[in-house]
Amino acid sequence: MGHLEAGHLEYYLPDGRVLLGDASFRVADGAVVALVGANGAGKTTLLRLLAGELQPHGGTVSVSGGLGVMPQFVGSVRDERTVRDLLVSVSQPRIREAAKEVDAAEEKILTVDDEAAQMAYAQALSDWAEARGYEAETVWDMCTMAALGVPYEKAQWREVRTLSGGEQKRLVLEALLRGPDEVLLLDEPDNYLDVPGKRWLEEKLKETRKTVLFVSHDRELLSRAAEKIVSVEPSAAGSDVWVHGGGFATYHDARKERFARFEELLRRWQEEHARLKALVLRMRQQAANSPDMANRYHAMQTRF
Ligand SMILES: Nc1ncnc2c1ncn2[C@@H]1O[C@H](COP(=O)(O)OP(=O)(O)OP(=O)(O)O)[C@@H](O)[C@H]1O
Ligand SMILES: [Mg+2]
Repeated sequence: MGHLEAGHLEYYLPDGRVLLGDASFRVADGAVVALVGANGAGKTTLLRLLAGELQPHGGTVSVSGGLGVMPQFVGSVRDERTVRDLLVSVSQPRIREAAKEVDAAEEKILTVDDEAAQMAYAQALSDWAEARGYEAETVWDMCTMAALGVPYEKAQWREVRTLSGGEQKRLVLEALLRGPDEVLLLDEPDNYLDVPGKRWLEEKLKETRKTVLFVSHDRELLSRAAEKIVSVEPSAAGSDVWVHGGGFATYHDARKERFARFEELLRRWQEEHARLKALVLRMRQQAANSPDMANRYHAMQTRF
């Protein structure tokens, strides 16, 4: 069981620009929802706010069920992290902590191999077992077999930058989809995937029982995998976030209707404004001849 909710989120960029003015939406238990919008609209920032990586300047985030996150950079890793580092980084916090302890203890034993270092290493391994690290490694073995065709034992020390973009994505997707977290945030999971890879992802998103919010620019994936669309529209007063309750097939019409509705509201407002302006002009002329009209004229001016 899991869910995700953003309530009136506000976020300002370091230069003071409003990126999100008032973003609210909910992803219900088991729903697969897409987050769409133009480049720079604020999708990645919104996911980082939901993941707790950034703090909002206003509003609330609520998540139930563990949260698993695939950042947008997966696929273009260029640093020295290994397959094991990558798999650890998308694991639950207790696994991440225990892995850090094992790394530190191993480093120590390689430099000062005294009794204290050996004790610390034994403790780290015991904590790894306690955190169910060995069970995680069994799952990672299935992931490396599926994504890279090699067992975890062989794949774990390989540098991620030697994997293709699609292999990096597939590896992290395998880990998150097979992992224990109930809520997944996926930032452009299909980027770098070839056509069979995209079809695979589509199937996985359709069959998973997890709660998923994913960002994509791919129309086909969006129309096949998303039940609902959260749309981020950039505007001068901060991006506007609205929810289309149907799939991507009806999203464009809903968006057009929404803009048409706004245009209609704007047209009505302009008509009303023009009517009031004409009224004020008439009153101004009459006020010149009557003190009673002068008071009504001043009251009317405040409506602008
Ligand atoms: N630290 C920062 N300083 C200044 N501007 C920033 C910062 N972080 C993000 N931005 C700006 O915020 C806007 C939203 O960025 P974000 O990465 O959330 O967009 P996005 O919708 O994910 O775009 P894309 O589809 O290209 O991934 C962009 O205009 C970006 O330049
Ligand atoms: Mg992005």
